[in-house]
Amino acid sequence: MSNSELQACVTVKTENGLYIDPKALTAHLSALHYSDDGLCMEQVSITELVKRYDTPCYVYSKQAILDVYQAYSDSFATVDHQICYAVKANSNLAVLGVLAQAGAGFDIVSRGELMRVLAAGGDVSRVVFSGVGKTFGDIEYALTQGIGCFNVESISELALINEVAAQLDKIAPISLRVNPDVDAKTHPYISTGLKDNKFGIAHEDAVAVYEQAAGLSHINIVGIDCHIGSQLTEVEPFIAALDKVVELIHKLGNKGITLQHVDLGGGLGVRYIDETPVSIAEFAAALLPKLSELGLKVFFEPGRSIVANAGVLLTRVDVLKPTEHKNFAIVDAAMNDLIRPALYQAEMAVIPNILPNKGIETDGTQPWDIVGAVCETGDFLAKDRLLSLSTGDILAITGAGAYGFAMSSNYNSRPRASEVMVADDRHQLIGKRETVEALYANESLWQE
Ligand code: LLP
Repeated sequence: MSNSELQACVTVKTENGLYIDPKALTAHLSALHYSDDGLCMEQVSITELVKRYDTPCYVYSKQAILDVYQAYSDSFATVDHQICYAVKANSNLAVLGVLAQAGAGFDIVSRGELMRVLAAGGDVSRVVFSGVGKTFGDIEYALTQGIGCFNVESISELALINEVAAQLDKIAPISLRVNPDVDAKTHPYISTGLKDNKFGIAHEDAVAVYEQAAGLSHINIVGIDCHIGSQLTEVEPFIAALDKVVELIHKLGNKGITLQHVDLGGGLGVRYIDETPVSIAEFAAALLPKLSELGLKVFFEPGRSIVANAGVLLTRVDVLKPTEHKNFAIVDAAMNDLIRPALYQAEMAVIPNILPNKGIETDGTQPWDIVGAVCETGDFLAKDRLLSLSTGDILAITGAGAYGFAMSSNYNSRPRASEVMVADDRHQLIGKRETVEALYANESLWQE
């Protein structure tokens, strides 16, 4: 099926809003399908999960996670490589555990993420530590545990790592995160490889900083790293970034600085509704010729592409509020559970648990804004979706496995949702719904 045919069968844009064909959408998501009982993830019915775990609830497919991990592994099989799953996308212990068992490395940005990786059975020597603001404590903890590599983002960080390593009498493995000044052509909030972003060391300064690093007593230069943004749907920006990195690797070689690995970061996009991102196999085919020539071990740090479409957020329609200008469906999930639509104007698909027997052209279908109960106008999960709704209906927001629960908060004193993992016909609670009492358990009244 061509890309345009694919889009046409998944979505219909009308004057009123957007109709997403649930069957066509799920046909392209390996974890989901419709049975006679409604939506299922792997072999588990969503109705059953809602009865058992209530809503709002995040549900993840173990197989879908493993399938994408395997696709990365297979696609880069011809070069020595390490897939370091970006923990920030979904840091649930069960998700990390499944990936650790499959042999994944991890990309972390805090001491907290490293603690999670260790708790999940991850191999610390396969962990890379990214992030612009590593503290003395972070570095000390990571070095003590035996971190695989620090992705260094500034000269002052380099000096700090050297200092901490000297105090611990250790040698810190590092790579420099180079900012290649490449336009990732994605939402500005999730673009990281441009000159005016806070990330990385400017391409033109990189050789000088490497020379400085080479002179430090407790630093071992092992690699080079870049990450240009997230939800990239085209391969060209990755190639442009790789070209810049290759140029630097050659310059460093001429100065006698040799590397063991090249880390191309994460960022491969996914299909939320009708996007047509380059597939992992196409991505690999485009990069492999240049990568093979380098002869270095290749690292990637994918987050979203591994977990996004392995997960859904289940929510119940509590109130239907048609008004003169807009129809609002107020659901029990809100921006505190899933902030992507509010923060990035992200469009995510909303599909019903039970398929209506009617189509878009029938009377039951109307445009609805799917909103939460938080006191903010920005609290919406989707806008102008053509759906046929009744109160009590269960909806699934797809693509919610990445940056969903991980970015959730307790705004409006709302406990965070439960999380469930499904494997074949089994399901397990992997994250218990918070209690309201737990939200203020660490607070205390002012004592006169
Ligand atoms: N490596 C580094 C250094 C990163 O900063 C990121 C993401 C990744 C890897 C993983 O990128 P991915 O493969 O997931 O695109 N909250 C936003 C996305 C923020 C991404 C930040 N960095 C969203 O929901 O769209």
